[in-house]
Parts: sequence; C-alpha cells; structure tokens
Amino acid sequence: MTNTTLSNHTSTADHALKWVKNVLGTTVWISSLLFGLYILSFYIATVGDNDLSVWNEAALPDLYEAGEPAATVGIGVHFATGAILLILGSIQFIERLRVNYPQAHRLLGKIYIGASALTAIGGLTFIIVSGTVGGRVMSVGFALYGLLMLHCTVQTYRHIRMGHVETHNEWAMRLYALVIGSWLYRMSYGFWILFTDGLWSTRQFQGPFDYFMDFAFYIPSLIVVELMIRSRRDDSRNATKWIAVGAVFIAIFLVSLSTYAFSNLIWLPVIFEVIGL
Ligand code: HEM
Repeated sequence: MTNTTLSNHTSTADHALKWVKNVLGTTVWISSLLFGLYILSFYIATVGDNDLSVWNEAALPDLYEAGEPAATVGIGVHFATGAILLILGSIQFIERLRVNYPQAHRLLGKIYIGASALTAIGGLTFIIVSGTVGGRVMSVGFALYGLLMLHCTVQTYRHIRMGHVETHNEWAMRLYALVIGSWLYRMSYGFWILFTDGLWSTRQFQGPFDYFMDFAFYIPSLIVVELMIRSRRDDSRNATKWIAVGAVFIAIFLVSLSTYAFSNLIWLPVIFEVIGL
C-alpha cells in the first residue's frame, strides 16, 4: 500500500470519527438536557411547595425523611447540581467555543467542576447518613461511583492548573462519561423493564440485575470514552479508529431510541405540567 493510500484511509477514519462524535455529543446532550429539566421540574420545583414527601411517592422510597436534615440537604444539593451538569452537557467540548471564547470556557468549567464535586459530595452524604434503598451493595456501588466522579473532577482541574491541556481534556471526557452514567442508569432500567418485565430486579433493588447494575451502569460510557481517547492519540492505529466509530455509532442508535421512549413516557409530561402546558 502506498503512503498516499494509507493517509487517505487515515483521513477517512478521522473524518468519520469526528462526524460520529459530533452526532453523539449532540444526541447525548439533547437527551441529558431533557433529563436535567425533568429533575429540576420534579424535585426542585417541589421545594417551593414545602412537601418533600412527594419525592418518595414518585421516585424512590425514603429519599426524604423528615428527621434527617443532613441527608435532605445532601440529596437536594445533589439534584440541583446534577441537573446543572446534565444541562451544561457537551458545551465544554465544542471546539469553536473553546477557541473563540476561552473566558466563557473557563467560567463554565469552574461551574462544571464545582457542580460535579457537589453532586458527588451530596450523594456521598446521603449514603453515609441514610444509606440507599438497595442496602449495603447498592451503597458500596454508588459510593464507588461518587468517589470516581470526585477523582475525575480533581484530575480535570489539577491538570489544567498545571497547563497539561491534553491530559485535562482526557480527564474531562472521563468525567463526562461518569456524569451521563446517572442518566444511563435510568435508561438501562427502562429498557430492562420493557424487554424483561423487570426480571432479577426487586422493588428494593436487591435482585441479581440490581446488584449488577450497582457497579456496571457507568462502564459502557467509560469504554466508549476510553476508545475515543485512544483514537485521538497520534500513534493510534486505523483499526482502533474504526472500532471507535462502530462503538460510537451503536451508542447513537441506543441513545436516540431510549430518549424517544423516556421523553414520551416520563420527562416531557412532567416538564410540561410544571410549565403549565
Ligand atoms: C450528574 C450526575 C447525577 C445525577 C443527575 C443524579 C441524579 C439523581 C436523581 C434524579 C436521583 C433520585 C432518584 C431517581 O429519580 O432515580 C438520585 C438519587 C441518588 N443518587 Fe444521584 N445523580 C448523579 C450522580 C450521583 C453520584 C456521583 C452519586 C454517588 C455518590 C449518586 C448517588 C445517589 C444516591 C445515593 C441517590 C439516592 C438513592 C436512594 O434513595 O437509595 N448520584 N440521583
């Protein structure tokens, strides 16, 4: 194979990868934006009504317990900052914005870092004070998720402070993968219930499927992001790039399908009700 043919192949793979990454970024953003608006509409709007027990009726039992102010503040902060992360979505990855408006990137970056630290700390506070609905296994799985999110937050911030732009970008991508894990978790349950009628899952989240999900829900997005990171490196092989294109393409399909189902069934009806439509 001549050098020209080789470089043509490489540029096709790069081009395809850039294209699918943009489509995935937009699709995930639209979907997580809707989930973020749903969280704001459902959980935060109820704070004004002074009756937080509604959290328990519609979502998980024991999210709100009258005698546990630390847990309530922790999970309340968690909802607000988690929604901010989902709404800000892929904005930090838009190259044009980063290059043309570096100050906006820095300001949004600080908000993002602060929000992700608070989301993790709020969730961890809730776990320590109240425990989770699924008991010890779920508490350990979710605490691990929170600690990973804190680690990625610190690394993203630390590397940009040291001027390591590329490493900063890689940690920011891992952090983003974890953030959308929260949304993947709900999507996965939606699909599981739809296709298996909730096999190996109980109302108290103590079935084999629940235990598996406690640790596995953010793994797919981390794998996709890790493939993307490797494919960005200069020495990455053409085959790696095409594998990344395939993985991203499957992700686009699944995200679009589940967004359609969740928006129709849950998110949009709640958002429309709150804004009075
Ligand atoms: C952007 C990221 C996140 C968002 C948007 C988010 C959102 C939510 C929402 C909406 C709930 C209420 C339950 C539901 O509707 O399903 C919830 C519950 C919870 N989240 Fe998160 N979350 C995020 C990240 C995390 C992290 C990193 C941790 C780990 C510390 C965590 C721990 C928890 C816990 C412990 C609960 C309560 C579970 C129970 O009642 O047993 N979340 N979260």
